[in-house]
Amino acid sequence: MGQLDGRRIVLGITGGIAAYKAIEVCRRLTDAGAYVSPVMTKGALRFVGKSTFDALGSEKTQVSLWDEEHAIPHTRLGQGADLIIVCPATARLISDYRNGRSGDLLTATLLATRADVMICPAMHTEMWEQASVIENIAALRERGVQIVGPSEGRLAGGDSGFGRLAEPEDVVESVFKLLGKDGGHQPGDLAGLTVLVTAGGTREPIGPVRYIGNRSSGKQGHALASEAALRGAKVVCVTTETETAPDELGIEVIGIETAQEMHELVMEHASRADWVFMAAAVADFKPQKVASQKIKKEEGVPEITLEPTVDILKALDETRKSSQLIIGFAAETKNLFENASKKLESKNLDFIVANDVSAPGVGFGHDTNSVSVIDRNGASTEIPLCDKREIARNVIDIVSESWSIQVTDPKIQ
Ligand code: CTP
Repeated sequence: MGQLDGRRIVLGITGGIAAYKAIEVCRRLTDAGAYVSPVMTKGALRFVGKSTFDALGSEKTQVSLWDEEHAIPHTRLGQGADLIIVCPATARLISDYRNGRSGDLLTATLLATRADVMICPAMHTEMWEQASVIENIAALRERGVQIVGPSEGRLAGGDSGFGRLAEPEDVVESVFKLLGKDGGHQPGDLAGLTVLVTAGGTREPIGPVRYIGNRSSGKQGHALASEAALRGAKVVCVTTETETAPDELGIEVIGIETAQEMHELVMEHASRADWVFMAAAVADFKPQKVASQKIKKEEGVPEITLEPTVDILKALDETRKSSQLIIGFAAETKNLFENASKKLESKNLDFIVANDVSAPGVGFGHDTNSVSVIDRNGASTEIPLCDKREIARNVIDIVSESWSIQVTDPKIQ
């Protein structure tokens, strides 16, 4: 396991000769297990090739606010990140960031985040010593931005002095300190907990070729599994989407297809779980008979009789130990609060995470989501549209808070 397993880092590269050193930083970060999203400014492209970062990063390098498939790339990058590093950072980037300007993708991403930010300045000594630069750096430090370097040494054009970019190993060392397993930022607040997560949509076979399925991608369940594991929990993820399931931080991924298989695997692991997140879209009905051969057109329109599947959440509730928290999910298209609350009550859940899948950018297949988390007492917390990982973070925070109240309440122990 790498020091940075499961960590998401946006690596911003601006236009200075030291941009070539960011290549080494990128490689070291991905080697340590981080998911690195490179973002280059137009100036950076004059010094190093985009394809270098495409090859060394974890996803395609982004340069513009307008050329990504995702409609709002700066929020996708900013909200999903644990850390944004700008390496090298020019005097202009530092000034723009300090003043809240967002003229390009990198500066927009810096504004659209709550993640930690690390700035690695690189410039000539005269520039570094300018009053404006000194003030900008001081203001950023004051706001909690971490400044790494610069150091003294050889500069562009044969000059020598202060302003040289910190060495890649020092930049990466600072990242380890901030985010790494031994670093002060390591959350670890779920250490000792076992978390069971289901994800994806079940497929109920009609015959050997066709099935009844649904549009769930498994992304929200997988994000919950990753987030819980990152925070120190032992995680079992029962999913229909094994190709995209998280294989980090020792998550035990179990691939299944049908509601019945999901039921069996969930029941097998539930007795050891402190929390169960039923994020999967489980079919409510399945074909009563499964054809042994492919159904051919010539046979006419097939008549498929359906029968109910087992309600896994209800089965979980019947066997649960008193301290276990069970979290259900509800994908609705109308009367969100009312419908979700009914499910919460009928299935005796501790929480229900409800989303309106008819809203833009919400639910099935999207990288983003927007949910209401409703508890047993009917209290609801709204989490507005953001990356599914950010949703996972917030949902886990809410569940975690009720868990700590529960374990410290002597009446419950
Ligand atoms: N669920 C389950 N077992 C099933 C079906 C669903 O445990 N056989 C869980 C899902 O994982 C989810 C929640 O139940 O956490 C969704 O509730 P449900 O009432 O099944 O939702 P829908 O299938 O969307 O119901 P409806 O079509 O009535 O809205």
